[in-house]
Amino acid sequence: MLSATDIHVRLSRTPVLKGASLTARPGEVSVIVGPNGSGKTTLLRAITQEVGFEGEIRLDGEDFTALPGWKLAARRAVLPQHSRIAFPFTVAEIVRLGMTAAATPPPKGRVAEALERVGLAGFAGRPYAALSGGEQQRVQLARVLTQVWEPVGPEGARWLLLDEPVSSLDIGHQLEVMELLASYAAEGGGVVAVMHDLNLTAMYADHVMLMAGGLMQASGAPADVLTDSNLTRAYGCALRVNTAPPAPATFLLPHTARPAG
Ligand SMILES: Nc1ncnc2c1ncn2[C@@H]1O[C@H](COP(=O)(O)OP(=O)(O)OP(=O)(O)O)[C@@H](O)[C@H]1O
Ligand SMILES: [Mg+2]
Repeated sequence: MLSATDIHVRLSRTPVLKGASLTARPGEVSVIVGPNGSGKTTLLRAITQEVGFEGEIRLDGEDFTALPGWKLAARRAVLPQHSRIAFPFTVAEIVRLGMTAAATPPPKGRVAEALERVGLAGFAGRPYAALSGGEQQRVQLARVLTQVWEPVGPEGARWLLLDEPVSSLDIGHQLEVMELLASYAAEGGGVVAVMHDLNLTAMYADHVMLMAGGLMQASGAPADVLTDSNLTRAYGCALRVNTAPPAPATFLLPHTARPAG
């Protein structure tokens, strides 16, 4: 289990996280939602130790911050919200960056396998800079996957920590990536993803955490967290949660949707 308890972060002397807590279990897709500026990225960056924080972060009871870098690299891979690449790398070279941090040397053909999993078969030799935004996002996901390919290693569950993994993707590729995350969790791995798409969250999350104002406002099963009142309060606009037969599948609509025509 991954847990962050009472996390405080100040950036440029501004309190950004004010005691946020998170729990995520392997075998589940855990999703963090919340409005812009609510602290989602900052919480992930605290967990990945890219910002200083007060509070406690534990992985299976062990202090996350005390784990040496090589152990951390074997246990979790991180997809940042924005990736800047300063060199003229090919797609294969970017994906290989993830393999350099993997616990065991991956077999030959892993780059091609990873690209195939994100729907980019045949892209290996292309210059990364010449890809579309959505293609670049999927290359970054392939890089992250190669780092923690097997969802469970000898040391326990491995984790994908993803900041908006589908933000640049079309609906077909969004579903492909969400299916990939669901199967990673189904095989025993841990997934923590920051998402803005509440419908995809309702479809794929096992556990939802709703952030606002640097705090976790609600946490639990999707049906308990994704409610009209929680969402309307957090996002400051009228939202309605609906269900459609026969599943019943949950879907969300802005309550004040503009009439057609
Ligand atoms: N270096 C910084 N100095 C001061 N404030 C910062 C700094 N970095 C981030 N912030 C502020 O912290 C708050 C939380 O930022 P964060 O990036 O965690 O939000 P977020 O929930 O990920 O939002 P988004 O949905 O837009 O990605 C924002 O109000 C942001 O302006
Ligand atoms: Mg963010």
